[in-house]
Amino acid sequence: MKRVSIKDVAREAGVSISTVSRVLNNSAPVSDDLKEKVENAIKKLDYMPSNIAKSLRKGKTGTIGFIIPDITNPFFANIVRGAEDYLRQRDYTLILCNSDQDEKQEVKLLETLISKHIDGLLFTGTGNFNPVLAEKIERGFNVVFLDRIIQGISASYVIVNNSKGMYELLDYLTVTGHKEFVFINGNKETFSAKIRYETFKKVMGEKKLKFTHFYTNFSYEAGYNFGKKMKKMPDAIVCGNDLIAYGVIDALEDRGFKIPEDVSVTGFDDIPFSKHYKPPLTTVRQPMYEMGMKAAELLVKIIEEKQINTEGIILEPQLVIRGSTRRG
Ligand code: RIB
Repeated sequence: MKRVSIKDVAREAGVSISTVSRVLNNSAPVSDDLKEKVENAIKKLDYMPSNIAKSLRKGKTGTIGFIIPDITNPFFANIVRGAEDYLRQRDYTLILCNSDQDEKQEVKLLETLISKHIDGLLFTGTGNFNPVLAEKIERGFNVVFLDRIIQGISASYVIVNNSKGMYELLDYLTVTGHKEFVFINGNKETFSAKIRYETFKKVMGEKKLKFTHFYTNFSYEAGYNFGKKMKKMPDAIVCGNDLIAYGVIDALEDRGFKIPEDVSVTGFDDIPFSKHYKPPLTTVRQPMYEMGMKAAELLVKIIEEKQINTEGIILEPQLVIRGSTRRG
Protein backbone atom coordinates (compact mmCIF):
# COMPACT_ATOMS: atom_id res chain seq x y z
CA MET A 1 0.00 0.00 0.00
CA LYS A 2 1.45 3.41 -1.07
CA ARG A 3 2.58 5.41 1.97
CA VAL A 4 0.64 8.72 2.38
CA SER A 5 3.08 11.68 2.27
CA ILE A 6 2.94 15.19 3.71
CA LYS A 7 2.51 16.34 0.10
CA ASP A 8 -0.71 14.29 -0.21
CA VAL A 9 -2.06 15.90 2.95
CA ALA A 10 -1.23 19.40 1.69
CA ARG A 11 -2.99 18.68 -1.62
CA GLU A 12 -6.07 17.22 0.10
CA ALA A 13 -6.29 20.18 2.50
CA GLY A 14 -5.58 22.76 -0.25
CA VAL A 15 -2.67 24.28 1.70
CA SER A 16 1.14 24.44 1.39
CA ILE A 17 3.45 21.71 2.74
CA SER A 18 4.92 24.25 5.20
CA THR A 19 1.43 24.87 6.63
CA VAL A 20 0.98 21.12 7.17
CA SER A 21 4.45 20.97 8.79
CA ARG A 22 3.57 23.89 11.12
CA VAL A 23 0.39 22.09 12.22
CA LEU A 24 2.23 18.79 12.77
CA ASN A 25 5.12 20.34 14.72
CA ASN A 26 3.12 23.14 16.33
CA SER A 27 6.12 25.22 15.33
CA ALA A 28 4.31 28.47 14.38
CA PRO A 29 0.74 29.90 14.63
CA VAL A 30 -1.82 28.65 12.06
CA SER A 31 -5.41 29.98 11.75
CA ASP A 32 -8.14 27.70 13.18
CA ASP A 33 -9.66 27.38 9.72
CA LEU A 34 -6.43 26.13 8.09
CA LYS A 35 -5.66 23.93 11.09
CA GLU A 36 -9.07 22.24 10.78
CA LYS A 37 -8.54 21.64 7.04
CA VAL A 38 -5.16 20.00 7.70
CA GLU A 39 -6.52 17.86 10.57
CA ASN A 40 -9.46 16.70 8.43
CA ALA A 41 -7.07 15.76 5.59
CA ILE A 42 -4.80 13.82 8.01
CA LYS A 43 -7.81 11.87 9.31
CA LYS A 44 -9.26 11.24 5.83
CA LEU A 45 -5.94 9.96 4.41
CA ASP A 46 -4.94 8.19 7.67
CA TYR A 47 -1.58 9.95 7.47
CA MET A 48 1.21 8.77 9.86
CA PRO A 49 4.15 11.25 10.01
CA SER A 50 7.49 9.50 9.53
CA ASN A 51 9.70 9.63 12.63
CA ILE A 52 12.88 9.53 10.61
CA ALA A 53 12.96 13.23 9.76
CA LYS A 54 12.17 14.21 13.38
CA SER A 55 14.79 11.77 14.70
CA LEU A 56 17.48 13.06 12.36
CA ARG A 57 16.65 16.62 13.40
CA LYS A 58 16.83 15.68 17.12
CA GLY A 59 19.90 13.50 16.58
CA LYS A 60 18.26 10.54 18.40
CA THR A 61 15.60 7.93 17.64
CA GLY A 62 14.44 7.12 21.18
CA THR A 63 15.16 3.42 20.56
CA ILE A 64 17.42 1.09 22.56
CA GLY A 65 18.64 -2.29 21.29
CA PHE A 66 18.93 -5.28 23.63
CA ILE A 67 20.76 -8.44 22.51
CA ILE A 68 20.34 -11.46 24.81
CA PRO A 69 21.06 -15.16 24.22
CA ASP A 70 17.54 -16.60 24.65
CA ILE A 71 14.28 -15.02 25.89
CA THR A 72 12.83 -18.50 26.65
CA ASN A 73 15.19 -18.65 29.65
CA PRO A 74 13.16 -16.89 32.39
CA PHE A 75 16.39 -15.34 33.68
CA PHE A 76 16.62 -13.20 30.55
CA ALA A 77 12.88 -12.58 30.39
CA ASN A 78 13.05 -11.01 33.86
CA ILE A 79 16.02 -8.76 33.11
CA VAL A 80 14.35 -7.62 29.86
CA ARG A 81 11.19 -6.71 31.78
CA GLY A 82 13.15 -4.60 34.25
CA ALA A 83 14.97 -2.79 31.44
CA GLU A 84 11.83 -2.14 29.39
CA ASP A 85 9.84 -0.84 32.38
CA TYR A 86 12.53 1.76 33.02
CA LEU A 87 12.99 2.72 29.36
CA ARG A 88 9.25 3.18 28.84
CA GLN A 89 9.15 5.72 31.72
CA ARG A 90 11.87 7.66 29.86
CA ASP A 91 10.09 7.48 26.46
CA TYR A 92 12.50 4.97 24.92
CA THR A 93 11.37 1.95 22.88
CA LEU A 94 13.20 -1.36 23.31
CA ILE A 95 14.15 -3.53 20.31
CA LEU A 96 14.86 -7.05 21.64
CA CYS A 97 16.95 -9.65 19.72
CA ASN A 98 17.99 -13.22 20.56
CA SER A 99 21.53 -14.25 19.62
CA ASP A 100 21.00 -17.96 20.43
CA GLN A 101 24.47 -17.90 22.02
CA ASP A 102 25.91 -17.61 18.47
CA GLU A 103 28.69 -15.07 17.86
CA LYS A 104 27.96 -14.70 14.14
CA GLN A 105 24.30 -13.99 14.88
CA GLU A 106 25.39 -11.51 17.53
CA VAL A 107 27.45 -9.49 14.99
CA LYS A 108 24.61 -9.59 12.42
CA LEU A 109 22.10 -8.29 14.99
CA LEU A 110 24.54 -5.62 16.17
CA GLU A 111 25.02 -4.30 12.63
CA THR A 112 21.27 -4.35 11.95
CA LEU A 113 20.48 -2.46 15.16
CA ILE A 114 23.17 0.15 14.45
CA SER A 115 21.76 0.61 10.93
CA LYS A 116 18.45 1.52 12.61
CA HIS A 117 20.24 4.32 14.49
CA ILE A 118 19.50 3.01 17.97
CA ASP A 119 20.62 5.45 20.67
CA GLY A 120 22.35 2.73 22.70
CA LEU A 121 22.63 -1.01 23.34
CA LEU A 122 22.12 -3.31 26.32
CA PHE A 123 24.23 -6.37 25.68
CA THR A 124 24.29 -9.83 27.26
CA GLY A 125 26.94 -11.38 25.04
CA THR A 126 27.91 -14.91 24.20
CA GLY A 127 31.24 -14.18 25.84
CA ASN A 128 34.29 -14.08 23.59
CA PHE A 129 35.87 -10.86 22.30
CA ASN A 130 33.65 -9.22 19.66
CA PRO A 131 35.83 -7.05 17.32
CA VAL A 132 32.84 -5.38 15.63
CA LEU A 133 31.45 -4.29 19.02
CA ALA A 134 34.89 -3.20 20.22
CA GLU A 135 35.32 -0.97 17.15
CA LYS A 136 31.85 0.62 17.59
CA ILE A 137 32.52 1.34 21.28
CA GLU A 138 35.87 2.86 20.32
CA ARG A 139 33.93 5.26 18.07
CA GLY A 140 31.65 6.26 20.96
CA PHE A 141 28.69 3.88 20.52
CA ASN A 142 26.76 3.70 23.82
CA VAL A 143 26.76 0.19 25.34
CA VAL A 144 26.10 -1.29 28.79
CA PHE A 145 27.00 -4.94 29.42
CA LEU A 146 24.30 -6.68 31.42
CA ASP A 147 25.06 -9.86 33.40
CA ARG A 148 28.10 -10.75 31.29
CA ILE A 149 31.23 -8.63 30.83
CA ILE A 150 32.92 -9.23 27.44
CA GLN A 151 36.61 -10.01 27.71
CA GLY A 152 38.92 -7.40 26.23
CA ILE A 153 36.28 -4.67 25.89
CA SER A 154 36.00 -1.77 28.34
CA ALA A 155 32.38 -0.66 28.79
CA SER A 156 29.96 0.07 31.62
CA TYR A 157 28.28 -2.95 33.13
CA VAL A 158 25.70 -4.25 35.60
CA ILE A 159 26.35 -7.74 36.99
CA VAL A 160 25.69 -9.75 40.12
CA ASN A 161 28.52 -10.64 42.52
CA ASN A 162 28.87 -14.18 41.14
CA SER A 163 31.80 -15.05 43.40
CA LYS A 164 29.97 -14.07 46.57
CA GLY A 165 26.99 -16.16 45.48
CA MET A 166 29.17 -19.22 44.90
CA TYR A 167 31.03 -18.73 48.20
CA GLU A 168 27.79 -18.59 50.17
CA LEU A 169 26.37 -21.65 48.37
CA LEU A 170 29.50 -23.75 48.86
CA ASP A 171 29.87 -22.61 52.46
CA TYR A 172 26.33 -23.85 53.13
CA LEU A 173 26.98 -27.18 51.40
CA THR A 174 30.25 -27.85 53.23
CA VAL A 175 28.83 -26.83 56.62
CA THR A 176 25.97 -29.31 56.07
CA GLY A 177 28.45 -32.16 55.52
CA HIS A 178 28.77 -32.37 51.70
CA LYS A 179 32.30 -33.49 50.82
CA GLU A 180 32.26 -34.68 47.21
CA PHE A 181 31.05 -32.39 44.40
CA VAL A 182 30.24 -32.39 40.71
CA PHE A 183 29.79 -28.96 39.03
CA ILE A 184 27.70 -29.06 35.82
CA ASN A 185 28.35 -25.57 34.51
CA GLY A 186 26.97 -23.44 31.66
CA ASN A 187 28.61 -22.25 28.43
CA LYS A 188 32.41 -22.23 28.71
CA GLU A 189 32.84 -18.89 26.87
CA THR A 190 30.52 -16.92 29.15
CA PHE A 191 31.74 -14.57 31.87
CA SER A 192 29.22 -15.98 34.36
CA ALA A 193 30.20 -19.64 33.87
CA LYS A 194 33.90 -18.80 34.08
CA ILE A 195 33.73 -16.73 37.26
CA ARG A 196 31.53 -19.30 39.01
CA TYR A 197 34.02 -22.05 38.13
CA GLU A 198 37.00 -19.98 39.30
CA THR A 199 35.33 -19.49 42.69
CA PHE A 200 34.24 -23.14 42.90
CA LYS A 201 37.79 -24.37 42.14
CA LYS A 202 39.27 -21.96 44.73
CA VAL A 203 36.92 -23.13 47.50
CA MET A 204 37.48 -26.82 46.67
CA GLY A 205 41.23 -26.22 46.90
CA GLU A 206 41.01 -24.26 50.15
CA LYS A 207 38.85 -26.96 51.78
CA LYS A 208 40.77 -29.85 50.13
CA LEU A 209 37.57 -31.39 48.73
CA LYS A 210 37.11 -33.82 45.84
CA PHE A 211 35.36 -32.42 42.79
CA THR A 212 34.85 -32.72 39.04
CA HIS A 213 33.70 -29.88 36.75
CA PHE A 214 32.09 -29.94 33.31
CA TYR A 215 31.12 -27.07 31.01
CA THR A 216 27.85 -27.77 29.17
CA ASN A 217 25.31 -25.04 28.35
CA PHE A 218 22.71 -23.11 30.34
CA SER A 219 19.78 -25.38 29.41
CA TYR A 220 17.41 -28.00 30.84
CA GLU A 221 18.48 -30.47 28.13
CA ALA A 222 22.16 -30.15 29.11
CA GLY A 223 21.25 -31.00 32.71
CA TYR A 224 18.99 -33.90 31.74
CA ASN A 225 21.54 -35.45 29.35
CA PHE A 226 24.23 -35.23 32.03
CA GLY A 227 22.01 -36.65 34.76
CA LYS A 228 21.01 -39.57 32.51
CA LYS A 229 24.66 -40.68 32.15
CA MET A 230 26.02 -40.06 35.68
CA LYS A 231 27.44 -43.19 37.28
CA LYS A 232 28.73 -42.64 40.85
CA MET A 233 26.68 -40.11 42.82
CA PRO A 234 28.63 -37.34 44.65
CA ASP A 235 27.25 -35.72 47.80
CA ALA A 236 26.16 -32.63 45.84
CA ILE A 237 25.63 -31.65 42.20
CA VAL A 238 26.19 -27.90 41.78
CA CYS A 239 24.57 -26.60 38.56
CA GLY A 240 25.49 -23.48 36.55
CA ASN A 241 21.88 -22.27 36.55
CA ASP A 242 18.39 -23.38 37.57
CA LEU A 243 17.50 -24.86 34.15
CA ILE A 244 20.47 -27.25 34.32
CA ALA A 245 19.41 -28.20 37.86
CA TYR A 246 15.84 -28.96 36.73
CA GLY A 247 17.21 -31.27 34.02
CA VAL A 248 19.53 -33.06 36.46
CA ILE A 249 16.73 -33.59 39.01
CA ASP A 250 14.33 -34.99 36.41
CA ALA A 251 16.95 -37.32 34.87
CA LEU A 252 18.02 -38.71 38.25
CA GLU A 253 14.44 -39.17 39.44
CA ASP A 254 13.61 -40.93 36.15
CA ARG A 255 16.43 -43.34 37.07
CA GLY A 256 14.95 -43.95 40.53
CA PHE A 257 17.23 -41.67 42.54
CA LYS A 258 15.78 -39.47 45.30
CA ILE A 259 16.66 -35.79 45.68
CA PRO A 260 18.08 -34.83 48.19
CA GLU A 261 18.22 -38.23 49.96
CA ASP A 262 20.62 -39.77 47.38
CA VAL A 263 22.26 -36.52 46.25
CA SER A 264 21.76 -32.79 46.81
CA VAL A 265 21.22 -30.55 43.75
CA THR A 266 21.61 -26.75 43.55
CA GLY A 267 21.00 -24.10 40.89
CA PHE A 268 21.83 -20.39 40.22
CA ASP A 269 19.43 -17.52 39.30
CA ASP A 270 16.28 -18.41 41.31
CA ILE A 271 13.91 -18.05 38.34
CA PRO A 272 10.21 -18.07 39.40
CA PHE A 273 9.64 -21.86 38.95
CA SER A 274 12.42 -22.83 41.36
CA LYS A 275 10.38 -22.38 44.53
CA HIS A 276 7.69 -24.68 43.02
CA TYR A 277 10.01 -27.39 41.65
CA LYS A 278 9.80 -30.91 43.04
CA PRO A 279 11.73 -30.68 45.33
CA PRO A 280 11.90 -26.86 45.60
CA LEU A 281 15.38 -25.82 44.45
CA THR A 282 18.18 -24.52 46.62
CA THR A 283 19.81 -21.81 44.53
CA VAL A 284 21.49 -18.39 44.41
CA ARG A 285 19.06 -15.58 43.62
CA GLN A 286 20.12 -12.94 41.12
CA PRO A 287 18.13 -9.65 41.35
CA MET A 288 17.08 -10.08 37.70
CA TYR A 289 14.45 -7.33 37.38
CA GLU A 290 16.68 -4.87 39.27
CA MET A 291 19.66 -5.77 37.04
CA GLY A 292 17.62 -4.90 33.96
CA MET A 293 16.32 -1.66 35.46
CA LYS A 294 19.75 -0.51 36.69
CA ALA A 295 21.39 -1.29 33.33
CA ALA A 296 18.72 0.68 31.46
CA GLU A 297 19.08 3.58 33.90
CA LEU A 298 22.87 3.58 33.43
CA LEU A 299 22.56 3.50 29.63
CA VAL A 300 20.09 6.41 29.57
CA LYS A 301 22.46 8.38 31.80
CA ILE A 302 25.35 7.68 29.40
CA ILE A 303 23.22 8.73 26.40
CA GLU A 304 21.66 11.85 27.88
CA GLU A 305 24.58 13.11 29.97
CA LYS A 306 27.13 12.08 27.35
CA GLN A 307 29.00 10.22 30.13
CA ILE A 308 32.33 8.92 28.77
CA ASN A 309 33.98 7.19 31.74
CA THR A 310 32.84 3.59 32.24
CA GLU A 311 30.92 2.62 35.37
CA GLY A 312 30.42 -0.83 36.91
CA ILE A 313 27.48 -1.79 39.16
CA ILE A 314 27.72 -5.08 41.09
CA LEU A 315 24.48 -6.25 42.71
CA GLU A 316 24.09 -8.58 45.69
CA PRO A 317 23.17 -12.26 45.25
CA GLN A 318 21.12 -14.12 47.87
CA LEU A 319 21.45 -17.77 48.93
CA VAL A 320 18.00 -19.41 48.94
CA ILE A 321 17.88 -22.73 50.85
CA ARG A 322 15.05 -25.10 49.87
CA GLY A 323 14.31 -28.84 49.74
CA SER A 324 16.78 -30.00 47.03
CA THR A 325 19.70 -30.09 49.49
CA ARG A 326 20.29 -32.20 52.59
CA ARG A 327 20.65 -30.28 55.82
CA GLY A 328 23.26 -32.42 57.45
O1 RIB B 1 20.47 -18.75 33.15
C1 RIB B 1 21.39 -18.11 32.30
C2 RIB B 1 22.68 -17.89 33.00
O2 RIB B 1 23.53 -17.19 32.13
C3 RIB B 1 22.49 -17.04 34.24
O3 RIB B 1 23.09 -17.62 35.36
C4 RIB B 1 23.07 -15.71 33.89
O4 RIB B 1 24.03 -15.27 34.83
C5 RIB B 1 23.60 -15.85 32.50
O5 RIB B 1 24.93 -15.42 32.39
